[in-house]
Amino acid sequence: MEASEVAAWDQRYSGPGLVWGAGPNRFVAEELAALPPGRAIDLGCGEGRNAIWLAGRGWQVTAVDFSAAGLARAARLAAERGVSVDWVQADLLTWQPAPRSYGLVLIAYLHLPSAGLARVFRGAAAAVAPGGTLLLNGHDRDNIARGYGGPQDPDRLYTPAAVAAELGGLDIRRAEQVLRTVQTTEGERTAIDTLVRAERPA
Ligand SMILES: C[S@@+](CC[C@H](N)C(=O)[O-])C[C@H]1O[C@@H](n2cnc3c(N)ncnc32)[C@H](O)[C@@H]1O
Repeated sequence: MEASEVAAWDQRYSGPGLVWGAGPNRFVAEELAALPPGRAIDLGCGEGRNAIWLAGRGWQVTAVDFSAAGLARAARLAAERGVSVDWVQADLLTWQPAPRSYGLVLIAYLHLPSAGLARVFRGAAAAVAPGGTLLLNGHDRDNIARGYGGPQDPDRLYTPAAVAAELGGLDIRRAEQVLRTVQTTEGERTAIDTLVRAERPA
């Protein structure tokens, strides 16, 4: 990963206020609220909103990001909430989670160049323990033409079918586009996300 990309994220996380908010992403909360807690890993955790929410529900969470500023903010937020998360600073293009170790592998709005993504997905899928779940949500490729916000480089965007095809060894439970309402200064807008939920047979 280029140093300028890390620096850009660090700068983004050094401004005033949280970039992504303190509460969990809507789809993360909806999809995962009923899962019994165990070990979880959040890949590209940013300011930690999802990792902290999981930890508050009893999960033992490892959360990985290459932005030191994002992780520092996440650690402060976790301390304020009185929860503990194992924060790891690493580049996901080279770092790999331990195989078959997590009841939950979460990837939320991690938009890497497609050249590196297959390896990241292989590692993420391999990290799911027997009976465990992988949840990915992120901006869909159709969001450029028909949605709102998010990266505008199609090479970094998802489609449900392309993500599902990368998750070898897992059973695909959901792979679809979902709509997300975004409040903007010009009123409500709709963003198009990809959501994929997969499980490793027990
Ligand atoms: C859009 S944010 C999403 C943060 C979080 N998942 C959420 O939903 O709030 C994407 C995050 O991915 C991280 N990221 C991007 N490329 C990465 C890489 N190669 N290795 C580790 N983290 C990366 C960025 O630092 C950023 O925090």
